[in-house]
Amino acid sequence: MNKKLIIANWKMNPIMRNEAIKLARQSDFSNIVIAPPFLFLSDISKVLKKACLGAQDVFWENPPTGGGAYTGEISPSMLKSFRVEYVIIGHSERRCSLNESDELINKKVLACLKNGLKVILCIGEDWSKRKMGLIHAKKFVENQLLKDIAGLKENDLKVGKLIIAYEPVWAIGTGKSDNPKEIREMTSFIKDILYSKFKTRNIKVLYGGSVNSKNIKSFLSVGEIDGALVGGVSLKPNEFKKVIKFSQTR
Ligand code: PGA
Repeated sequence: MNKKLIIANWKMNPIMRNEAIKLARQSDFSNIVIAPPFLFLSDISKVLKKACLGAQDVFWENPPTGGGAYTGEISPSMLKSFRVEYVIIGHSERRCSLNESDELINKKVLACLKNGLKVILCIGEDWSKRKMGLIHAKKFVENQLLKDIAGLKENDLKVGKLIIAYEPVWAIGTGKSDNPKEIREMTSFIKDILYSKFKTRNIKVLYGGSVNSKNIKSFLSVGEIDGALVGGVSLKPNEFKKVIKFSQTR
């Protein structure tokens, strides 16, 4: 059975270290990736027994002996030293608020894979594209994906190294999730692009955008959708547990 993967993206939450530790303990189940803010990685790496640790970003340079003059940044090796296995790259909040370009995102993707970190690459169209129809959204997503994975070779992609999170921007944090039929179509489309590039169907494609305990079933029942990236609800332990429970019975 293809196990569904759930990513908990805590974004800039919670404020306090003790709250973060508590939340991590409550979310510690297998096939879950917990991506807290950088500041809490150290504490949470000591708490998790079943879930994997993820980071919400990374820098693309990795000076092997340290000494990187990059104020404020965190390298792949630094993340690995805290037992981080996964990195979320290209989240739309970073693309929009920090102007992260596809070229910059591509550098981060390549740096992670080169340095043994698994990539959760977020892609997705905004409402201006989607309102013109799924065909326009697909065109946008294809272009974004191909730019973000430029230079990747089949050999870089051992099973599980690259995960795609399809997250329509208009569905993130709005309470308006996309509909499962269209997500299925987009997911198959993304998988076909990846197949034609890498000749593999082993790359997971997840859905993200207003996932909650009520709608998770409608997404995970669709065979093509390999899991979910959960933002707001990953901060609500009782509700998140219901999401996890459903994902583990698939
Ligand atoms: P949301 O966030 O679940 O709050 O919509 C999703 C995300 O972080 O991309």
